[in-house]
Amino acid sequence: MINISRMELLEKINCLKREKDAAILAHYYTVSQVQDAADCVGDSLALAQQAVKLRNKLLVVCGVHFMGETVKILSPDKKVLLPDMNAGCSLAESCDYAAFKRFVDDHKGYTVVSYVNTSAAVKSLTDICCTSGNALAIVNSLPASEKILFAPDRNLGDYIKTQAGRKDMVVWDGACHVHEQFSVEKIVELKKQYPNAKVLAHPECKKPVLILADKVGSTAALLKYSQVSDDREFIVATEPGIIYQMQRSNPQKIFIPAPPADSTCGCNDCEFMKLITLEKLYLCLKNESPEIAVEESLRRKAEKSIVRMLEMSKNLG
Ligand code: 13P
Ligand code: SF4
Repeated sequence: MINISRMELLEKINCLKREKDAAILAHYYTVSQVQDAADCVGDSLALAQQAVKLRNKLLVVCGVHFMGETVKILSPDKKVLLPDMNAGCSLAESCDYAAFKRFVDDHKGYTVVSYVNTSAAVKSLTDICCTSGNALAIVNSLPASEKILFAPDRNLGDYIKTQAGRKDMVVWDGACHVHEQFSVEKIVELKKQYPNAKVLAHPECKKPVLILADKVGSTAALLKYSQVSDDREFIVATEPGIIYQMQRSNPQKIFIPAPPADSTCGCNDCEFMKLITLEKLYLCLKNESPEIAVEESLRRKAEKSIVRMLEMSKNLG
């Protein structure tokens, strides 16, 4: 434990950043102090896009392991750090390489579309990566006759399948433990207190929550909606870290975190994202550790699917 103030820590982080030519990328789900220290705060698509643009020698990814791995795959010559290697992801964990390989082998002729919330090994079996921000556009851009295997999130997959009206789309049975916790009953209860509130939901939530939502989208899309909407109250069914940016750009609006089904735990924090603290960010920059490593032949195989996503995202606008 370092016994200095937050301001001092921030100053030290800024000094180290200059000294080491480092940039900090943070996901919207990290704690507010970490978001404040970052050069770029975004959803998983924005973080991947930034990774290829940044010229810094050192990149610190404040998010979960697959996000650091994606940045490393795209930037093999840079040193990529993750402040806590225990920052995993239940969704990525729900798609084990060996089982997924059998699934892919059983579906010859299918185009494999995987969410970035996967390991590098799973990406190496993937034709095109996607994020929640571009999944629908990517699936829509594939010919209607193309058969699709979508992984790993069953809720996002089913949502995209319905939205795109695809018949030949099989979906892997994985899920995020945070988003699956949101319950329609709790949101309906909350709506009694805030009858005018609009419900914003991430597509990793279960179908009944998505049906009830006024807006379904990636974290960046939900943030944008809260900025442009004339509504003043919002119930937010995604990890509550995003509320920091929502509140910052809309100080006069009210954001209510949707409660989890099990109300004994109070809120739906992603415990993996919350492992990334300002103190760990400082130590990681100072020690240049822990560092993300991806074996080169695996990296090259995984890279193709991410590059294809980034190219398609450019064309999709
Ligand atoms: P985004 O694609 O919206 O950044 O979401 C990533 C994630 O981990 C959702 O749980
Ligand atoms: Fe993974 Fe869910 Fe956490 Fe996102 S919120 S990083 S999908 S565990």
